[in-house]
Amino acid sequence: MNSDFNCADFAFLDSGTGGIPYMLALKKKQPLARCVYLGDTAHFPYGEKSVEEINDCAAKAVSLIIKKWNPKTLIIACNTISVTALDRLRSIFPKLPIVGTVPAIKLAAKVTKNKKIGFLATNASVNSPYSKKLIEDFAGDCHIFSRGDPKLVDFIEKDFFTATYEQKKACVKPAVDYFKSCGCDVIILGCTHFTHIAEIMQDVAGEDIKVIDSREGVSNQAIRVESADGHKKTAALEKPFRDLSFFVTEASPSEEKEYRLLCERLNIPWGGISL
Ligand code: DGL
Repeated sequence: MNSDFNCADFAFLDSGTGGIPYMLALKKKQPLARCVYLGDTAHFPYGEKSVEEINDCAAKAVSLIIKKWNPKTLIIACNTISVTALDRLRSIFPKLPIVGTVPAIKLAAKVTKNKKIGFLATNASVNSPYSKKLIEDFAGDCHIFSRGDPKLVDFIEKDFFTATYEQKKACVKPAVDYFKSCGCDVIILGCTHFTHIAEIMQDVAGEDIKVIDSREGVSNQAIRVESADGHKKTAALEKPFRDLSFFVTEASPSEEKEYRLLCERLNIPWGGISL
């Protein structure tokens, strides 16, 4: 365990590698921020779990994060956990500012011209009352075509980083074809894992469809929350930090090899298995 991580500015939580693009987006805006990331791989995939299981696993993962890294701000870099458990987590951990990641429905409603929006997420997110309320509140005049895609989530978590470009394209094609056949002019990436394939999806979708996600909104919100406390911000800037470590809660030796490779490629220190 890297002992430098006794107090991170930002901690990120997802079920696996999905939230990494969110951490990178934040780090781009705040290069000196001390970041740590936990993928709760022992409980992957969250998107196929019941509400109770998601609540339970997420609360345990947040406890672990607080114990290990005592972060000033926590970013739930997972739509499934956010739409299911955010309120509960905030009530269990009232002292910790928690920023959630929710599907970019509001943005999609602004971007669409023909009012046909594709919503690509996990089954848990697609079916959650929270997502339905977001749609009702912000895209009531649009037709939303939802698709839960656990196969794509699984591919990204397990095979994406070693797959060829052609294999990646083949994997996103069924979702893109579905949204095309519905006439959508916007696709929301409502699962953080999908942000790894945002560019490929945009290539496959072509210029008539805009592929959007919430990286920009979430990193801006996290920085706003963090900056609301001047003392915290000063501490972050005064102490340059070897950071961006990626930890997981479980990995077989071959998975660990892949995580190490991914970290190397993204220039993120591999943290190890954290229990
Ligand atoms: N990356 C997560 C999300 O944004 C969930 C993936 C999963 O564990 O099913 O929903």
